[in-house]
Amino acid sequence: MAMRITILCENLVGKLVGSGEHGFSAFIETDKGNYLFDTGSGRSIVPNSLTLNKDLKSIRKIFLSHGHYDHTGGLSEVLKLKGKVDVHAHPHVFLDRIAVLKEEGREIKRFIGIHYKKSYLESLGAHFVFNTDFTEVEKGLFLTGEVPRQTNFEKADPRLFSEMDGAMTHDLFLDDQSFILDTEKGIVLIFGCAHSGMINIIHHVVNKMGKEKFHAILGGTHLDFLTPEQLEESINSLKRMEIGKIGVSHCTGMRAAFRLQQEFGDRFFYGCVGSVLEV
Ligand SMILES: [Fe+2]
Ligand SMILES: [Fe+2]
Repeated sequence: MAMRITILCENLVGKLVGSGEHGFSAFIETDKGNYLFDTGSGRSIVPNSLTLNKDLKSIRKIFLSHGHYDHTGGLSEVLKLKGKVDVHAHPHVFLDRIAVLKEEGREIKRFIGIHYKKSYLESLGAHFVFNTDFTEVEKGLFLTGEVPRQTNFEKADPRLFSEMDGAMTHDLFLDDQSFILDTEKGIVLIFGCAHSGMINIIHHVVNKMGKEKFHAILGGTHLDFLTPEQLEESINSLKRMEIGKIGVSHCTGMRAAFRLQQEFGDRFFYGCVGSVLEV
């Protein structure tokens, strides 16, 4: 199956085209049809799709990695173009999300969940299909579902909270799921933010797929928000795995991206707006 993955929304622009934003979205072309994994924050998905010549009206399904605004904010814009379409996500995708951040010495609370009600998105054409478990969404295409936390070094971001049953708690991110393409060259794994921990996610994929060979991993890895020790543990784990290309984006951050480039050399690429992975 020939496939092409194009980064539609991302923090950085490096291909002379498109606009950057804090967000992530990948346009996936296969010989069975086109799919969208995440939708960015809403500002760049439509203009970038036009610039990169990716027809949002052609998508067969939308997959959401988790309920943060920077992955779901463009959903309404896509639905206004596409109309009726299945939107696959974990049921916790609509939880209220809060980030507690320090800015200029003050504590700031920001709402970072989906900005739209489910009923509004449904009125635009969304048909939500919820999954909690590992799911084959099309032949050879999978969503990880909930990812078991196994490593002892991948800690949750302590600044992120969610509200459940009226109580605000540290966000468990049960909704964090990644997308898998089972290709002849090996697995291609796309993270949204990898809030479950990228190594936890890879272990889960190996376990569920019964395969260890990855052609590529790409997407947001949230490595920039971890301690330097945690980053080194993640790199040591990656070095022990059979991974062809490592193409990070979004919440990976520069410090972690530079370290990955230093460690993996030509196998590393930065997935900026317009980056393409052909399989
Ligand atoms: Fe993100
Ligand atoms: Fe996130």
